Amino acid sequence: MTEERGTTPDRRRFLGSALMWTGLAAGYGLGAAHFLRYLLPLGTKVRYRELFAGALDSLAPGQSRTVKTPSGDSFVMARTPDGVRVLSDICPHLGCRVHFDRTRNQFVCPCHDGIFDAEGRAVSGPPAEAGQDLTRLETVIRGTSIFVLVKEA
Ligand code: FES
Repeated sequence: MTEERGTTPDRRRFLGSALMWTGLAAGYGLGAAHFLRYLLPLGTKVRYRELFAGALDSLAPGQSRTVKTPSGDSFVMARTPDGVRVLSDICPHLGCRVHFDRTRNQFVCPCHDGIFDAEGRAVSGPPAEAGQDLTRLETVIRGTSIFVLVKEA
């Protein structure tokens, strides 16, 4: 029986086992990484796009009007003393229409006297008791144009 120089059976067995375990660890590790990425898509970035919502000078201080997104969601856009606010016009309590009250600088739901501040935070009524704020869209003023940021599908 001839033995190759420098490769004993123990050494061959050790190298074979080491290669096998390294391959298994790499394979299972890669599988686990893909599974975790499937469960927790951390790398997914939410993308927004700007939608033209109107001309700034067409919305006088204290005025408001309805804005619809391409997905059909309805918002009330109001020019408050602090700028332009775009909030959902659907009350989170039971779905009545919310409007902007210029005298109080608040958003009001007439159904059960739900009151929201200019940022959309519920301040009184059933929405405040339940901690239900209005959904708010961020706005960008560029020159004399108002844009709202909506999530891309
Ligand atoms: S539906 Fe708006 S307060 Fe009840």
